[in-house]
Amino acid sequence: MRVIKCVKTSEVVLLLLFSLSIIQDGSCIKWLALGKTSDGRVWTRELCTSARSSGLLERKQARACRAAPDVMPSLIQAARDTSFVCQQAFRNRRWNCSSIERAPYYTPELLSGTREQAFVYAMSAAAAVWRLARGCALGNLAACSCATPPRREPPSPSALISSSSFISRSASFDAMSARNSFKWGGCGDDVRSASRMAKRFLQGSSPTGSGSTSKFLHAVNMHNNRAGRRAVEQSLTLECKCHGVSGSCSVRTCWRGLDSKGPAAAGVRLFRKYATAAEVRPKSGSRLPPLYHHDNLLYTTKSPDYCLPDKKRGSLGTVGRQCNGSSAGYEGCEYLCCGRGHVTKTREILERCECKYISCCYSVKCKTCKNIITTYECN
Ligand SMILES: *[C@@H]1O[C@H](CO)[C@@H](O)[C@H](O)[C@H]1NC(C)=O
Ligand SMILES: *[C@@H]1O[C@H](CO)[C@@H](O)[C@H](O)[C@H]1NC(C)=O
Repeated sequence: MRVIKCVKTSEVVLLLLFSLSIIQDGSCIKWLALGKTSDGRVWTRELCTSARSSGLLERKQARACRAAPDVMPSLIQAARDTSFVCQQAFRNRRWNCSSIERAPYYTPELLSGTREQAFVYAMSAAAAVWRLARGCALGNLAACSCATPPRREPPSPSALISSSSFISRSASFDAMSARNSFKWGGCGDDVRSASRMAKRFLQGSSPTGSGSTSKFLHAVNMHNNRAGRRAVEQSLTLECKCHGVSGSCSVRTCWRGLDSKGPAAAGVRLFRKYATAAEVRPKSGSRLPPLYHHDNLLYTTKSPDYCLPDKKRGSLGTVGRQCNGSSAGYEGCEYLCCGRGHVTKTREILERCECKYISCCYSVKCKTCKNIITTYECN
């Protein structure tokens, strides 16, 4: 308080404006709050407008919503995927992504251009592409259906065999290596259209703040969005089906499909990118330096160590977190508790055990066993 009293009014106003512009920049992921809305709503133009007035959608997003309300259920799913995949990926880390649940009221670490923010932006874009592409293939969206087949031929049989998603394993290797005819067919997932739709929706308004810092952060956010969209394109798998007499595989139909693990497959890629994210600084204007590869995640602000609570920087601290007493990794007590030590707690639980099936009476008889569970908690 005392400090603020000493600052001139004009400076306070400036300070306020500055923090407002930061909040504005973070708003491109406000839509993740849609994950908390109920399913089964029919999205109409009116609903898009009311989502805009309650702050869940930005102006441009609301416009995209009104133009094609049928994409909204896919985006709601994508919002849930983002939250789930993120919390799953970070569950053992000091920052465990629990703050994503605060959408649309994010804490500073998801607004100030950290590595964590980079991951969330990329992941949300990846999830949006995956869900939209799935919506296309299911025929739920007016704007797309199956992908136009690629112009080039499907890869050689040997490449197919190494592909993990090769469906017809019954075909003999000899038949496969023989020169056989193949064609694109089936319903390839239309990731390109989905990516375009996701881009249009996620792009967000350009920053309202005129400051070059906020413009730069916006450019970085958009870069990370694109990295996320590309992660889905890269996790497409080749799927083929054999045709021909008794599985001879003389004709194959192939298509490119989404990974059946859902957006989590892209999440695994992006989590690796999180570890190698690069820090960028604005040089001239709001442009990104050209040397950064499309697929890298970028951040502008160093993250706190997330050891102790620090509201200003968006750190919740790790006090009370459960850690692993025998691991030397991120989830180990040593690292997770930041050297503050931990308490060991034991608990007795009763469980059914040594169950036997009694054939005379069609029933199962069990004993009750005592089990001791040990947990570790950070100080
Ligand atoms: C995530 O971290 C927060 C803050 O330390 C903690 O309150 C929460 O229980 C953690 N969630 C999980 C699933 O560990
Ligand atoms: C703790 O870490 C060890 C070693 O990495 C691992 O084998 C064990 O499954 C972990 N325990 C829990 C509860 O995750």
